[in-house]
Amino acid sequence: MKILVIDDEKNIRRTLSDILEDEGYTVLVASSGEEGLQVLAHEIIDLLLLDVKLPGMDGIEVLKKVRKDFPSLDVIMISGHSTIKTAVQAVQMGAYNFLEKPLSLHKIIVSARNISDKIKLYKKYNEEQKDIESHYKMIGISPEFERVRTLIDKVSKTDSKVLIRGESGTGKELVAYAIHNKSNRKNGPFVKFNSAAIPNELVESELFGHEKGAFTGAENKKLGKLEVAHEGTLFLDEIGDMNLNAQAKILRVIQEGKFERIGSNTIINIDVRILAATNKNLEKMVSEGTFREDLFYRLNVIPIQIPPLRERISDIPILLEYFLDYYAVELKVHPKKFSSQAMRLLQSYSFPGNIRELKNLVERLYIISPEKIIPEDEVSPHIKLLSSKKNKEAGLFSISNFTKAKKQFEIEYLKEQLDKYNWNISLTAENIGLQQSNLSRKIKDLEIEK
Ligand SMILES: Nc1ncnc2c1ncn2[C@@H]1O[C@H](COP(=O)(O)OP(=O)(O)OP(=O)(O)O)[C@@H](O)[C@H]1O
Ligand SMILES: [Mg+2]
Repeated sequence: MKILVIDDEKNIRRTLSDILEDEGYTVLVASSGEEGLQVLAHEIIDLLLLDVKLPGMDGIEVLKKVRKDFPSLDVIMISGHSTIKTAVQAVQMGAYNFLEKPLSLHKIIVSARNISDKIKLYKKYNEEQKDIESHYKMIGISPEFERVRTLIDKVSKTDSKVLIRGESGTGKELVAYAIHNKSNRKNGPFVKFNSAAIPNELVESELFGHEKGAFTGAENKKLGKLEVAHEGTLFLDEIGDMNLNAQAKILRVIQEGKFERIGSNTIINIDVRILAATNKNLEKMVSEGTFREDLFYRLNVIPIQIPPLRERISDIPILLEYFLDYYAVELKVHPKKFSSQAMRLLQSYSFPGNIRELKNLVERLYIISPEKIIPEDEVSPHIKLLSSKKNKEAGLFSISNFTKAKKQFEIEYLKEQLDKYNWNISLTAENIGLQQSNLSRKIKDLEIEK
């Protein structure tokens, strides 16, 4: 922390410098308001110790100027006995507090420490906020993704239960956070609870908390995630993995807004919004008896289905660009790009692992590839491995729209046949039983490229 002392008394300047430097701060001094303002213009100062009574421009005038030009700078006034009233007035004008002469060593040190702690906390909070924002940044421009965004906007204005569905890696957690962050609970906590990541027997104590001695191993009282999420949002991830006991208890929370810690009879009222996500087929689980029907209907008030990446391929280029920038910053290296061929290859890939796979691929290529422009042949080994025939077929079968699936099949089929006959159109046409003109037209219409 850097401190500036403005005081016309040489002894005071020296005493303050000595004490504060001993405490590990950097101290600059000025003997008048004018001189002090000069220093402030050139140095980044965290704390200003300002004498009330100064020759020329007095302390209050300096304070006024500082409040205007450096509104976040903390100021502690130094006051003699005769200027206490002015010092109080200074505090009303936004000074942090004031120290009275003769100066108390203890008070100086404590005040400086308080300010230093406050600055550290503030910086930490800002960094965490930045981390959260970038961690949850959502990219997408396709019409399919725009539909998801529209739904997010609508549901965030309400407290309705939302069931977020989609394949692994499609961004379910991001959508949950976006709903929280746009809602009027955004200043409250966003608490994640993942049933799949916690051993079955611990699910309830994690969720509802427990009293000391509630069961063997419960050495201390513990707050559950539900309680921590009070006035905020509780995100129940992988809800399909929650055991039936916990399902029954969650149902009660949803119906009555009440719960008990394990080992306690006290009923606790709670105000949380519940969002849930799954990539499981809950309807099937309901019919099999492994998921409670009543809970399913309670949670599924508003379903949000996130389409897989292969059904919104217009998002691929922008996601690639975003992660190219992201990893340059994250890995502290020069930014890279994909060659246009590499880009084309990536756009034709089905990304069974969705955005998570795309993100990991970019990170891997940043680390492995020595090139600034990543060429096609550096990309292909990483996706060929995965885009085996089986995967392609699995991809085709999961396209929900018939026309889209048919088109994708034609593209993949024709590409493979053309490759087989070395892109000799007449030969290919003859062998697959198509007119040559018909094949040429399809190549053009479906934008098939070598
Ligand atoms: N639209 C998007 N824009 C930017 N990053 C995204 C987007 N969607 C997902 N991601 C990133 O992809 C990764 C996977 O997202 P997330 O964890 O939300 O997926 P998920 O659907 O919850 O997957 P799983 O079912 O495996 O838990 C995360 O690193 C996330 O930041
Ligand atoms: Mg997830």
